[in-house]
Formats: sequence, C-alpha cells, structure tokens
Amino acid sequence: MSELPNDPSNSAPVEATQELTELLADIASTVPLARTALAGATDLKRLEEVRVEFLGKKSKLSDFSTRMGALSKEEKPVAGKILNARKGEITALFKQRQDELEARELEQRLVRESVDITLPGLRTIRGNRHPVALVAQQVTEIFTSMGFRLESGPEIETEWFNFDALNMTDDHPARDMQDTLYTERGHVLRTHTSPTQIRSMLKLGAPLAVITTGRVYRNDSDATHSPMFHQMEGLLVDENISVGHLKGTLTTFLKALFGENVKVRLRPSFFPFTEPSIEVDVWNEQRKGWMEVLGSGMVHPNVLRNGGVDPEKYTGFAFGLGLDRLAMVKYGIPDLRLLFENDLRFLRQFA
Ligand code: DAH
Repeated sequence: MSELPNDPSNSAPVEATQELTELLADIASTVPLARTALAGATDLKRLEEVRVEFLGKKSKLSDFSTRMGALSKEEKPVAGKILNARKGEITALFKQRQDELEARELEQRLVRESVDITLPGLRTIRGNRHPVALVAQQVTEIFTSMGFRLESGPEIETEWFNFDALNMTDDHPARDMQDTLYTERGHVLRTHTSPTQIRSMLKLGAPLAVITTGRVYRNDSDATHSPMFHQMEGLLVDENISVGHLKGTLTTFLKALFGENVKVRLRPSFFPFTEPSIEVDVWNEQRKGWMEVLGSGMVHPNVLRNGGVDPEKYTGFAFGLGLDRLAMVKYGIPDLRLLFENDLRFLRQFA
C-alpha cells in the first residue's frame, strides 16, 4: 500500500488500492505525453488529431474515466478530482498551442496573399465596332432622325421579291447565274436590299418612309467586290413626292455623313425599279476619283403596284447604297477585302 501522490487537490492522505495507484500513475504520465504530442503538432490539422487522441470521446482520458468505475466509493472522487485537474491542464495546453498555430497560419497567409500595389495593373482589352458597323450606325441615325423607320428582311429571299416585284424581267442580266447565288425552289441569297421595299409597302402601306441595312450576296470577288457585302435601302412614298425631295434628302444625308464640304455628283442612270434613275458619286481623295456610293430614283409604278400601293395616288423615291464602299470612302480604306479579313491590326484603328 502506498500513499497517494501529493496532489494539491488531495489534502488528506488516504490508503490507496493498487488500481488507484496505477490509474493515478497513468493519469500523471499523460500530461508529459500530451505536451510532447502538442509540441510535435506543427499545423492545425495535426493539432486536431492530437486533440482527438487526448481529449476526444475515445481518448486516453475518457479511458481513465472508464477505469474509475472499478474503484471504490471512497477512491472515485479522489481519482475524479485528479483526472479533472489533468484534463484541465491538457485542455489549457491545447488552447495555448492552438492560439500559437492559428497566429502562425494567419501570418503565413498574410505573407502568401499579400498584394504588391506597386505592380502595373492588368488592362482589359476593349473591343470596338467594325468600320462597316460604324457607317451602318451613322447612316441609320441620320435617316431615323429624318423620320425614316428601320425595317428588315430575310437574307434568303424569293425570286419574286428579289427580282420580279422590282420590275426586273426574266432576262435581266442581274438574274444571271454568274451574279446570283441560288439556293432552292425559287429562292436566292438576296442580291440587294431592295426587296425590303416591297415587303415594307405590303406590311405598312402608304404613306411610309423606311430604311433597312443588311447583308447581300453576289458571285463576285476582287479589290472592290466581295461575295457578301452590306447595303442600306431607303424608300419614301407619299402624295406629291418629286425628284426635288429625293435630291434634298440625299444631299442632306451625304453632308451629315461626310461634312458640309463633301463633293457630290448626281448622274442619270438606269435601274429597272426606278424611273427616272439617278446615281450619286462621292469624290474619293485616296483614289483621286469619283466613287459611286448610291443608286436612286423615283419608284417605278409597277413596283408601287407590287407593293399594294396605288401609283395614281402616290409617288415615291428609293435609294440603295453600299455600306462597305461608304466605309472605304469615309475612312480611306484602299481594299474592300480588308473589311472581311478580321485582321485586328486593321480593325483596332477604328477604336
Ligand atoms: N438595288 C440596287 C443595287 O443593288 C441599288 C439601288 C438602286 C437601290 C436604285 C435603290 C434604287 O433603291 O432606287 O445595285
């Protein structure tokens, strides 16, 4: 029989059984073990493993509680007090280590995540509009500000809308296989935006003032022709509309687009859908020559009729222009193909 170890919580010496002696020895030896294990835990993950090992539900300390069950009524509170004291001690050691490791990890994270505010920023590359989109937008704004309404039509068009309704007879050269891209069963890739004249009249009736921008297709390719290009179409129908209205509208438009000093030339021409027909040229400084930018004329009575408009009551004027050519003249672009190659060195110049 030996005396109890001199624990402060235990003032009165008691005769101890062997079970109690062994249990107390085991409890006492746990503290240095925990101390070593805690010191060896160098991160929070390992620390948690140590906590489970010493303080968890199936830990050494809970094992001691089980062993206490075998002690006598007198010994139980003695062992319990000591066990609690040790448990408190290990818990305090654990807390201390936890604080240390948390502080260390925070410090490391701050170093790792620190931002060097003296580094130059990362620029986001901003896109910009394509030159054709730029002129399409400008042209649209000019005409809508004059009261024209924006309409659209399909790119796969029937031969009737693309040709017949526009007074283009079966033998018209534009219908030739070489120029027109045919699809199926009387359909073509529209060769111009003029079919929207008919569609707009059928949809809205007279009087009306409409514009359209969009893609058109022809079997043609060189420095000034692309198989896909862009046009804008305009149509105004009302009572007592004359060539004077046409001239005034188009001159106003070209001045708004190119500036007051733009050099404009009107020439008599021929289109099946207009009578009389007028072609409009703009001086191209880059190429030192006149460049045709616009076809126009007074709407042919057959065209009005095909649009369901009475040519006895109404007259009108129409115009169509190549947006690609307009962009070339406006921005001094030497080759049409530059517009379709998507070379960013070229396109970025329009930012
Ligand atoms: N559609 C014609 C073409 O593609 C352009 C044109 C000429 C349109 C005269 C018109 C017009 O509206 O009146 O060449």
